[in-house]
Amino acid sequence: MIQVLSVTSECVPFVKTGGLADVAGALPTALAQQDVRVRTLLPGYPAVMKSLVKAAPVLRFDTVFGGPARVLEATCGGLDVLVLDAPHLFDRPGNIYLGPNGADWPDNAERFAALSWVAAQIGLQGAQTWRPDVLHCHDWQAGLAPEYLRAAGSALPCVMTVHNIAFQGLTPALNPARLKLDPDRFSADAYEFYGKISALKAGLMAADWLTTVSPSYAAELMTPEFGMGLDGVLRHRANRLRGILNGIDTAVWDPITDPEIKTFKSLRGKAHTKAALRTEFGLPVSAGPLCVVVSRLTEQKGLDLLLGALPNLLNRGGQLIVLGSGDPKLEAGFRAAAKHSQVAVHIGYDEAMSHRLIAGGDAILVPSRFEPCGLTQLYGLRYGTLPLVGLTGGLADTVINASPAALDRGVATGIQFHPVGDTALRTALDHLCDLWSQPDVWRKMVRNAQKQPVGWDRSAAAYAELYREALTS
Ligand code: ADP
Ligand code: GLC
Repeated sequence: MIQVLSVTSECVPFVKTGGLADVAGALPTALAQQDVRVRTLLPGYPAVMKSLVKAAPVLRFDTVFGGPARVLEATCGGLDVLVLDAPHLFDRPGNIYLGPNGADWPDNAERFAALSWVAAQIGLQGAQTWRPDVLHCHDWQAGLAPEYLRAAGSALPCVMTVHNIAFQGLTPALNPARLKLDPDRFSADAYEFYGKISALKAGLMAADWLTTVSPSYAAELMTPEFGMGLDGVLRHRANRLRGILNGIDTAVWDPITDPEIKTFKSLRGKAHTKAALRTEFGLPVSAGPLCVVVSRLTEQKGLDLLLGALPNLLNRGGQLIVLGSGDPKLEAGFRAAAKHSQVAVHIGYDEAMSHRLIAGGDAILVPSRFEPCGLTQLYGLRYGTLPLVGLTGGLADTVINASPAALDRGVATGIQFHPVGDTALRTALDHLCDLWSQPDVWRKMVRNAQKQPVGWDRSAAAYAELYREALTS
């Protein structure tokens, strides 16, 4: 059995701001079927500390980045966790990354350097009797861990996964030792990036294997258009980069057992769920498709484009329900759009409501400008809520576009549009309404969508295979 230490800044069921938490929370259970045992190292935010049951200290440090710290071990939420209890860094209310003013905490570099440094210590000395065979680091918050290990002369196999290259953990390089980094390694071959320290680049250079969360995003990352300045680094390491598609937790996202759904075993069941959703949001019955969005409201997600293209849906009797929060301008834009009688908007974060939207909608809209993988289109497939998506990253890899050929062969599962922009989105919404007006075609697509494998099995096997390679190469 391979022992893996997974290092992440968020993890379901403890704390979540996006899909990283879903992946970090679901992958360990899937890997258990592959003879891999995962322990997950997490920061001890208040929400994490509160959920711990029977936690036992396994490591103590007099000082870690300005205060005492311990690592607690527990089994809870279905996971084996190691929690970095460092109140001076993590005992703060609200969003895990942002202070009360909505900006990043000024010491985020130190907070996540601490997480990475402790991960490296566990790699070097173990946590009591347990030692990892492989370190698996997620995103920039864990990116310095492989660098600390290499600087200490350790060859412990490391895998670095990029969930989103837009976040790189950049910080001024005035004093690398402040982050416990070796100043002699401040170079382009390690953690230096255009004169700054980049935690993500550190991981990309020092890890043995790099992965990202879809094959298409792996290819995109090596281009200037999507690599966000790190494309050269990724091209340099191309033979060590793999795209492994995310899955979803099919126990949590299960249309048959979902507690938010009353009856859902057939399309008739869907009609009931849709009616309940319309009632909940005060929308009238309408002849067009009911579209839903569940998303962070950010530039990445392309939802500004949807605001512009909305008439193409509404003029055909379509409706829209949006659940999301983020950029104040987008929030205001959707609030204004909700003045239309066929549009409803809930600004906020609500897990239970997200299930009701995805279950009751006819289509889920994900017009992202870039999308490393994306999870909501996968939920949509499983619930027969057809995805309309930008042709990019994981959205390209998981949806089969309703092209004439795919419709002829009866394999289509959704709609993809390209290039991701206003005109193509308008055309895609028109296409959606055309398909909706052909009930047999729509039903066939729903059946295809629900047959797609969206669980973790295949991808967990791919990670297990990678860990084995990392151990032997
Ligand atoms: P990203 O990680 O870029 O935000 P993903 O599609 O991978 O995108 O994951 C987003 C996750 O967050 C999904 O599980 C989605 O359902 C959830 N989510 C996003 N916004 C909300 C919201 N407002 N309320 C509830 N869940 C949300
Ligand atoms: C990131 C990406 C998203 C991906 C998620 C989990 O937040 O934006 O596309 O699904 O990570 O890997």
